[in-house]
Amino acid sequence: MIAAADVLIPASDAALPVRPARGVDGLGGMAAAWAAANDFGGKPSQVLIVPGTDGKPDHALMGVGEKGLDPMAGRCLAAKLPAADWRLEGWSDEEAHALTLAFLLGAYQFDRYKAKSGPRPRLVAPAALDLDATRAIADACFRVRRMVDTPAADMGPAEIEAEAREVAKVHGASVEVTTGDALLKANYPAVHAVGRAAAPHRAPRLIEIGWNLDAADRPLVALVGKGVAFDSGGLDIKPAAGMRNMKKDMGGAAHVLGLAQLIMGADLPVRLVVLVAAVENAISADAFRPGDVLQTRKGLTVEVGNTDAEGRLILSDALARAGEHRPDLTLDFATLTGAARVALGPELPPLYTDDETLAADLLAASARVGDPLWRMPLWPGYRTSVEAEIADLRNDSAAWAQAGSVTAALFLQRFAPDTGAWAHLDVFAWNPRARPGWPEGGEAQGIRAAFDMMRCRFPQG
Ligand code: BES
Ligand code: MN
Ligand code: ZN
Repeated sequence: MIAAADVLIPASDAALPVRPARGVDGLGGMAAAWAAANDFGGKPSQVLIVPGTDGKPDHALMGVGEKGLDPMAGRCLAAKLPAADWRLEGWSDEEAHALTLAFLLGAYQFDRYKAKSGPRPRLVAPAALDLDATRAIADACFRVRRMVDTPAADMGPAEIEAEAREVAKVHGASVEVTTGDALLKANYPAVHAVGRAAAPHRAPRLIEIGWNLDAADRPLVALVGKGVAFDSGGLDIKPAAGMRNMKKDMGGAAHVLGLAQLIMGADLPVRLVVLVAAVENAISADAFRPGDVLQTRKGLTVEVGNTDAEGRLILSDALARAGEHRPDLTLDFATLTGAARVALGPELPPLYTDDETLAADLLAASARVGDPLWRMPLWPGYRTSVEAEIADLRNDSAAWAQAGSVTAALFLQRFAPDTGAWAHLDVFAWNPRARPGWPEGGEAQGIRAAFDMMRCRFPQG
C-alpha cells in the first residue's frame, strides 16, 4: 500500500530535473525545436519530456502559465512523467513546496488487489522543505482514499473501527466503541436502527476517539463522520446504478480519521473528539422501515420517509454526542446526498455553516491549498420541509423544497452542538473520471482546507 515515503526520496544520483516553462521563449535551440515538434506551448500543467543526444530523457518541462502555478498543478507530474527519479530545478521554494505535495497526491495508486503494482516516478525531496509536514498531509489523504477504495466486504464497520484504533494508537488517543445492542443502552438509537439489519459481524457501532481531553484550557474540536460501509438504500432499495459505488458511503468517516491524524500528528494545541458512526445500511427481516418513527439521542423523534436517507439519521446521534462535549468547533464530513452532485458536481463539495468567520476562514484556506469548497445556504425558508406529520422531523424532506443537499444540512443543523461553530461538508469522496494525477476512485476533499484553517486558528505556542 502506498506511503509518502515510497514516492518522496531523500536523494538520488540519477534524478532528472523537472524545470518550469514560463512561456517557451527562453528555451534553448534543441529544447525549443523539440517543444515546437511536440506542440508544447508551456500551458499550465503541460509536460514535455526532453531527450538528450542519446535519445534518453534528459529533463522535463512543466508549463506554468501566466496566472502562476496552481497549488495542485503538480498532481499531473506523477502521472505524466516516466517511472524514474526526478528532482525539481528552477522553482521558487513556494512552488517546490506545492509541487511536492501535489506530486505525492498524484502518485496514489490503489493496488491492494493487483498481483503487481505499477511502476511510479519518484521525487527527490527539495532541500528547503518541511518534509514531515508534507508527508503527513499526503499520508492522511492516502488513508482517506484507500479506505474509500476498499470494497465494502473488506471495509465494513469492524474495519472502520480498526482504522480508527490505528489512528488513535499512533497518537496516544483513547478509543471507546459502542457496538450492536449496547448502542440502545448507551442511547444511540438512530445508529442502532439504521445498522441493525447487518450481519452480526458487521454490527453497527459508534466510535469515539478522545485526545488531550484533560487539557481544559485548550479549545475543543469535534469531528463527526458518516461511516456507512455500504449503502444498499435499505428497504427503499437503491436502483443498481445508484448502488454500484456505495462502498464509498463511509467517505465521511475516512475523512475525519485522516483529518484527526493530521491534527494529532501536528500536535495542534487543541482537545480533539472524533465521532464516527459506522453502520451498514442493509436489508433483512429486522431492517428499519419506511414509516417507522425513530428515537434519537437528542430526544427528537424522526419519521422515516425513506430508509435511503440513512446518513442524517446516524449523524443525528453522533452530532448530539459531540454537543455533550461542549465543543468550540465542530466539523462533520458525509457523503450525504446525491443532490449535492446535482448542484455542484463531483469536484466541488458544498460547505454549510451559519458562522460567517468559519465560512470565511475555511474558504480562504481552501483557496490557499487548492482544496475546493463552495458555500451553500442553510436557507431558513426550507426549515419546515424536514418537519413531519406524526414525529418531530422526517428524514426525507418534503418534495416542495427540492434542494436536497440544503434540506439534509438543515436536518443536521437541528442536531448540531449549540456551543461553538459548526460546519457540514457534503463530500463526494470520489473521482468519477480519471485525469492525470486524479485517478478514478476515492478522493480526499476538504481535509487539507480544514487542516490549514485550524493551523491558522490554533497556532503552535
Ligand atoms: N449515500 C447517499 C447519497 C449519495 C448518493 C452520495 C450518491 C453520493 C453519491 C445517501 O445516503 C442517499 O441515499 N441519499 C438520498 C436521500 C433521499 C432518499 C432523501 C439521495 O440523495 O438520493
Ligand atoms: Mn442512502
Ligand atoms: Zn448513504
